Amino acid sequence: MKIKIRKAKDSDASEMSKLRIENLRQELSKYYDELYINESVARNTEEKIIEKMKSWSMFVAVDGHGKIVGTAGFYDKNFLGGLYVGLDCLGLGVGRKLVLHIENFLKKNSEEKVRLYSTVNACGFYKKLGYKIVNKRKGFVGVAECMVTEMDKKL
Ligand SMILES: CC(C)(COP(=O)(O)OP(=O)(O)OC[C@H]1O[C@@H](n2cnc3c(N)ncnc32)[C@H](O)[C@@H]1OP(=O)(O)O)[C@@H](O)C(=O)NCCC(=O)NCCS
Repeated sequence: MKIKIRKAKDSDASEMSKLRIENLRQELSKYYDELYINESVARNTEEKIIEKMKSWSMFVAVDGHGKIVGTAGFYDKNFLGGLYVGLDCLGLGVGRKLVLHIENFLKKNSEEKVRLYSTVNACGFYKKLGYKIVNKRKGFVGVAECMVTEMDKKL
């Protein structure tokens, strides 16, 4: 699959929101309860994504037609987050490309480590990319309690 990664723009927020909300409702809902999904959906509206872009470096993966097929970003210097792949493109290497792109970006910024909080379903994916579990604890998304797995990778 021909994929390009580029910096996200405010004008991408509507398409990014749609992709994330579809992923939450149809993919992540296999692993999380309704409260967690609703809280996460509320944090991924077009307006919230535009707001987040002020403090995050956000990237999108686009296909040959310019359609957004994945999103990811980082904040606080080296925390990776916001990784979602479009439902039609799961398992095609888009997630890996986004993570590698951010790792390379951080390396160029002289960061020595990437850190992240993994959802329960994604730990195997991150392990495959060389991430190690640092800690597991309870966390919250809004009022929804969930298990959070902190992972990191030395660059
Ligand atoms: C997790 C996610 C981003 C992975 O993206 P993807 O594009 O489907 O993954 P890729 O195709 O790049 O997979 C890369 C490798 O990881 C493996 N992999 C993918 N998802 C995996 C999983 N959940 N568990 C274990 N391995 C996984 C693939 O088989 C592939 O291995 P290979 O190199 O042997 O072929 C995607 O499943 C997703 O959007 N999930 C829901 C949202 C989410 O959980 N985001 C992470 C929040 S922390």
